[in-house]
Amino acid sequence: MKVLGIETSCDETGVAVYDTGRAGAGALRAHALYSQIALHAEYGGVVPELASRDHVRKLLPLIRQTLAEAGLAVDELDGVAYTAGPGLVGALLVGAGVARSLAWALDLPAVAVHHMEGHLLAPLMEDDPPEPPFVALLVSGGHTQLVAVEAIGQYRLLGETLDDAAGEAFDKTAKLMGLPYPGGPQLAKLAEQGRPGAYRFSRPMTDRPGLDFSFSGLKTQVLLAWRDSDQGADTRADIARGFEDAVVETLAIKCERALDAAGCDVLVVAGGVGANRRLRARLQQMAEKRGGRVCFPRPELCTDNGAMIAFAGALRLQAGQHETAEVKVAPRWDM
Ligand code: KG4
Ligand code: ZN
Repeated sequence: MKVLGIETSCDETGVAVYDTGRAGAGALRAHALYSQIALHAEYGGVVPELASRDHVRKLLPLIRQTLAEAGLAVDELDGVAYTAGPGLVGALLVGAGVARSLAWALDLPAVAVHHMEGHLLAPLMEDDPPEPPFVALLVSGGHTQLVAVEAIGQYRLLGETLDDAAGEAFDKTAKLMGLPYPGGPQLAKLAEQGRPGAYRFSRPMTDRPGLDFSFSGLKTQVLLAWRDSDQGADTRADIARGFEDAVVETLAIKCERALDAAGCDVLVVAGGVGANRRLRARLQQMAEKRGGRVCFPRPELCTDNGAMIAFAGALRLQAGQHETAEVKVAPRWDM
């Protein structure tokens, strides 16, 4: 089964073809991404209307390019999957409209995919994928959640952030220290040059039981430290390192707790912050200590992409699920 996946929930246009007839990582026949970063950079954040218009411009050429890379004609597809939410409503409607029209014209089933379920399943596209049950840490720009995955499609929320998501905290902290948009990856890069321990920030909500997170106070701690500092390049790197260590340590502590609570030793990590090198190393170390396993997608499949949507759609179609021809999106949607 060859499924086209379309992702347009925010500022990346992602398209991919997933082929269930092929094994492991080879099942991803092609994937392409067009990032709108340059378009939004001068505004310091995503401008929803500009995002929608750019998806309109880029989506069809990207679909053609992806099919060509996969060596497939459009009539060789078996289904079309698209992100139906959560996300920016205008941006979602572009992907939904194109996906539904294509499915209708080609007489194919269409599948509406939850963006976070796409992230959650992304690690399963790699070779030697883990089988449920496992615990998933979802860390993106909009979400920070710990989820017990009992089976594909059967999810139980163990904990989530009460305020900022981890990626959002990275982005806001980067911005307050004057780093350009999008700040998260830049802050992580800067932290590589910082000295560990030069600044120490708290590990929020780790001193009490529970699996929820809170990252907004951390941002305020950084603001105060930055304001009282010489604001030089070395200091900025040291603060970035202190902030990253605090986030990574907090996530690691809660992941370990979630594994204990779920009585499980397999952790799956997904979402943009899953690309963070220090987080990957720290969770790897934790898994080794427990004699367990941690699974990440390759970094380019941690951030938004069409591959995870194609894959989630393929699993849904294999299970015999798809919807009627209605174009439907849900900007806010619980998984
Ligand atoms: O999953 P994603 O691409 O989009 C959402 O669904 O939100 O995640 C984007 C988030 C941004 O907040 C970005 O700053 C963060 O992931 N991010 C990182 C890194 N790469 C992306 N945060 C920390 N370290 C990174 N290397
Ligand atoms: Zn995402």
